[in-house]
Amino acid sequence: MKPLVYVTRKLPEEIIVRLQENYEIDMWSKAEVQVPREILLEKVKKADALLTVISDRLDEELFSKGENLKVVANMAVGYDNVDLDAASKYGIAICNTPDVLTDTTADLAFALLLATARRMVEAAEFVKNGEWKSWSPMLLAGTDVHHKTIGIVGMGKIGTVVAKRAAGFDMEIIYHNRRRHEVAEEMLGARYCSMDELLEEADFVVCLAPLTEETKGMFQREQFQKMKKDAIFINASRGPIVNEEALYDALQAGEIAAAGLDVFNEEPIGANHPLLALTNVVALPHIGSATKETRIAMMETCCDNLDAIFADRTPRTLVNKDFLSSRH
Ligand code: GLV
Repeated sequence: MKPLVYVTRKLPEEIIVRLQENYEIDMWSKAEVQVPREILLEKVKKADALLTVISDRLDEELFSKGENLKVVANMAVGYDNVDLDAASKYGIAICNTPDVLTDTTADLAFALLLATARRMVEAAEFVKNGEWKSWSPMLLAGTDVHHKTIGIVGMGKIGTVVAKRAAGFDMEIIYHNRRRHEVAEEMLGARYCSMDELLEEADFVVCLAPLTEETKGMFQREQFQKMKKDAIFINASRGPIVNEEALYDALQAGEIAAAGLDVFNEEPIGANHPLLALTNVVALPHIGSATKETRIAMMETCCDNLDAIFADRTPRTLVNKDFLSSRH
């Protein structure tokens, strides 16, 4: 009998066809609506594997019901939606999708930086609304990106590739990270600094750190107050790293100039959220890795990881490595 995989979002046909070669598939029927928790809790009882997305909460309650559950392939690089200790306790492998999305997510982070600095969303709306009357000396004047200082908070794979893009814009690159990143320092001339130095010196503060106990709520009013008044804040990692109220207050008080946000505390963010009323906020619906090529590559990575587990191989992108010692 083929292992049963429960898929928590409707996936494209080509991925379903691939999965069906080796697995029996049960799939939530919608692509844009999350599977209700009670259905997931029911489905996990029979599943040998789950293919999940970041909005699914994968916790002890869920794992404890998965009597046959061997692996969860989570379609994301971030895994803050997963209780890794609980997964290991139940002998369940957790896999993510790093690498295939690095360049794409860095492109989006840099595009968001450019869009925010050059007021592109505001400008596009201006044209579409028929407000453009004449060329004008300071019309929609933004701020330069080239030759400015970018401060990258979280110099992992995506951070490094954002730094590479920044180097192409002749930017000075400073970064803060748990560890020094010698390769970025040597190849890109990135300079390591303390968080406070970064906040004080950067024209663009770009958050790319994973959400952990340490990074949760890392950006409070105090952090925004340390930034330059014309600094631009970009967040392309996870919403809860930022205190959104503090960000709103800082923007309102003119303590920073603008913000570009791809992620929010609660997703989807409500259309009446105060941040969305600000013209100097560019908001995107968590689309860092959203290109057709990359999303398919992420799904393929999930399939590869499932295949590895059911062939008794170690998945290439296993997150909870301690699962290997509990493998049965
Ligand atoms: C998306 O946010 C991801 O972690 O891949």
